[in-house]
Amino acid sequence: MSTQVPEQQEEPTEAAAETETQIPSKGDARRAEKRRRAAERRAQKQAEEAERAAADEDTIELKVFRYDPEVEGKQEPRFDTFHVPFTKGMTVLDALMYARDTYDSSLTFRHSCRQAICGSDAMFVNGTQKLACKTQISELQEPIRVEPLPHAEVTKDLVIEMEHFYEQMHAVEPYFQTNELPDGELEEQRQSRENREKIKMSTRCIWCSACMSSCNIAAGDNEYLGPAAINKAYRFAMDEREGEDIKQKRLEIIEQEHGVWRCQTQFSCTEVCPKDIPLTEHIQELKREAVKNNLKFW
Ligand code: SF4
Ligand code: FES
Repeated sequence: MSTQVPEQQEEPTEAAAETETQIPSKGDARRAEKRRRAAERRAQKQAEEAERAAADEDTIELKVFRYDPEVEGKQEPRFDTFHVPFTKGMTVLDALMYARDTYDSSLTFRHSCRQAICGSDAMFVNGTQKLACKTQISELQEPIRVEPLPHAEVTKDLVIEMEHFYEQMHAVEPYFQTNELPDGELEEQRQSRENREKIKMSTRCIWCSACMSSCNIAAGDNEYLGPAAINKAYRFAMDEREGEDIKQKRLEIIEQEHGVWRCQTQFSCTEVCPKDIPLTEHIQELKREAVKNNLKFW
């Protein structure tokens, strides 16, 4: 039978104790990591506060029309004020989006392309019809007042009912019509360079309805075709590829009681059109065409 003698535990030497203090324990490492993260958070918060303070120094004041017929307490039209940090190149649409995304998600307005192409964000900015995405904040006087387009029914906040405008546009049959098709199926229907130049500006319409909203005549006569629809009629009536009989039909549409003769040459439509279409000029030219069309020589 053998007897096992328990081994004697050695006392730690001084050198070993020193090494132990140099190697951090797992707990120490965790605490250090926590301290590092806390410092990082503090620095981030300070940076955000500094950014906010800088923004406060350069903030714009927006007064936005609010109305919601479906929500109790919001049925009475009012203006809400939003303070939005200004950034270089900011447009009215940018400011509205900031207000909506930061302060009030119920703020409602139309927009899509953000580059003056879709025509969905025409509004009344500081008393003038403008495309919000094309209007620089730096060019406006503060406080900036944003309202829905006048002379239209408001659906909610800055959104108006566009149905009437579309009806007027469709009334002039805004599409190409011709009796003379080219022989070959894939053959182009050529237009002369001069004719293309003539109608060029009229093709730029983006159906924003700013011109209609600015027109006093349209405001007083709900059946008036309006500058945009007449411009659309011009675009096709002046297109040499449509042929004389179709032009005749177009002239009949625009010289009706609520057509071109209602225009009083006030130029308001031309002034507000964001695509710089010479609307009044086009209306006057169609008036002349209508007169020529009706002249009879016996
Ligand atoms: S004519 Fe000009 S203002 Fe009128 S709908 Fe077209 S783009 Fe807008
Ligand atoms: S958002 Fe499309 S025209 Fe302004």
